[in-house]
Amino acid sequence: MAETNVLPLPEPAPEERPVLVVDLGGQYSQLIARRVRECRVYSELVRHDAPAQALRARHPRALILSGGPASVYAEGAPSVDPALYELGVPVLGICYGMQLMAQELGGRVEPTGVSEFGRTEIEAEEGELFAGLPPGQVCWMSHRDSVTAPPQGSRVVAGSPSTPIAAFEDPERRLYGVQFHPEVLHTVHGTDILKNFLYRVADAPPVWTAAAVIEEETARIRAQVGNARVLCALSGGVDSAVAALLVHKAVGDQLTCVFVDHGLLRKDEAAHVVETFGRHFHVPLVHVDARERFLGRLAGVTDPEEKRKIVGEEFIRVFEEEAERLGTTRYLVQGTLYSDVIESGGTEGIAEVIKSHHNVGGLPEHMDLELVEPLRMLFKDEVRRVGEELGLPDEMVWRHPFPGPGLAIRIIGDVTDERLEILREADAILLEEVRRAGLYRELWQCFAVLPAIRSVGVQGDSRTYAYPIVIRAVTSEDAMTADWARLPYDLLETVSSRIINEIPGVNRVALDLSSKPPATIEWE
Ligand code: XMP
Repeated sequence: MAETNVLPLPEPAPEERPVLVVDLGGQYSQLIARRVRECRVYSELVRHDAPAQALRARHPRALILSGGPASVYAEGAPSVDPALYELGVPVLGICYGMQLMAQELGGRVEPTGVSEFGRTEIEAEEGELFAGLPPGQVCWMSHRDSVTAPPQGSRVVAGSPSTPIAAFEDPERRLYGVQFHPEVLHTVHGTDILKNFLYRVADAPPVWTAAAVIEEETARIRAQVGNARVLCALSGGVDSAVAALLVHKAVGDQLTCVFVDHGLLRKDEAAHVVETFGRHFHVPLVHVDARERFLGRLAGVTDPEEKRKIVGEEFIRVFEEEAERLGTTRYLVQGTLYSDVIESGGTEGIAEVIKSHHNVGGLPEHMDLELVEPLRMLFKDEVRRVGEELGLPDEMVWRHPFPGPGLAIRIIGDVTDERLEILREADAILLEEVRRAGLYRELWQCFAVLPAIRSVGVQGDSRTYAYPIVIRAVTSEDAMTADWARLPYDLLETVSSRIINEIPGVNRVALDLSSKPPATIEWE
């Protein structure tokens, strides 16, 4: 019998059928997945050496081959399983991905002596990728090699004087390539081109919304957790808040949140967390007031790393005690993000990542808890959108990153009650004014620092000898690099005079004008 015995795979829901971005090593691979998701189509990164059948098993709507730094004809250059071109799934090659397709499918790639980096103008023809778009377009190129003959059977649909083959299409085989980077915002119609590929070519509906994510994730959590009890450490940050709310939506009061107040938070933050979770969302919440314990252990400690270590250790101790009090718990919620998963090399969802830089200082390994990671497939901006959809207040959704050791590493030297109080008040004034000026969301982080020096001042008829407060405000994409924010003078003036007038013990305000590198964002 000539019957095939390949069983059809079960069809997943439309919002679960991913667009798989095959990562060929380019710096923009993650960005491609993010842009596809911004078009409300679910997307994941996969390794380039994944067999075509493994990709097929995911029921992808489409495949996108990313850029990459190599030359396709170089020895050892990354490639893909050629069988993926035969899956009948639409494929879009971008930059290196396009060149790989050309090389594998009967075209040609050569070093033409023309390198293009940056802004380029192309002329495009009406087809599928450029449907409804103007013929003359500005796009972003970054290549040394060029496609000098497109894949057999395909049609060239865009070019520039220096790169005559800037895009090709083969609608019959559903193969497409672009030399430029549609995922980069400098490509003026980049998103439109991606939408044409997703909506027209791949027939992928824009159904992946925050609401759909919540539905999928809650179903997944229910399936994982069953009737078991789940524990979550709330830090006040957006990741743990959204993770907790998702788990609570899924399994209700099987979840208990533990909020450890170590006394190193900003003004009113602890009250805010308790109010939001306990009273507003009715999440079972254990609020542990451990302020004295932490301060006791930090007394006299001035070394930054020692402070970090103490806060981390003490946090684990308090958390363990609470877990024990609560009785048998099987699961622990962790706010691992997709970027953590990717960065650890687990783009197929293989790696079990535990955030080393976790906001609450890492959780005990020997407790033998299984992890529930509801944000594992989400980028940070998506976590925020899910938070908004779940009704989390704006203040938590858009909260700046805050280090686990909190104000302990923003007080240089001794951490005492008195010095914490000074810093908290100064920080609160700074943030209040920055918010009032409408600049909070423009900044990556903004905070006050209390150095371990005092200087002379004069107030009324008497001399003072008091602390300065340093204002630190930075813009950044990812905290790896940062620039000092150019805050308006009138804002600085208001902040400075309020801090000096309202806080006894402060007689000076200074502004930190350092970028990272060579400085870091935090002072310790
Ligand atoms: P730096 O100061 O190294 O900070 O430029 C980069 C980012 O990391 C945060 N940070 C920490 N986060 N525990 C944390 O959870 C820490 O010990 C810690 N130290 C720095 C910092 O706020 C910035 O966002």
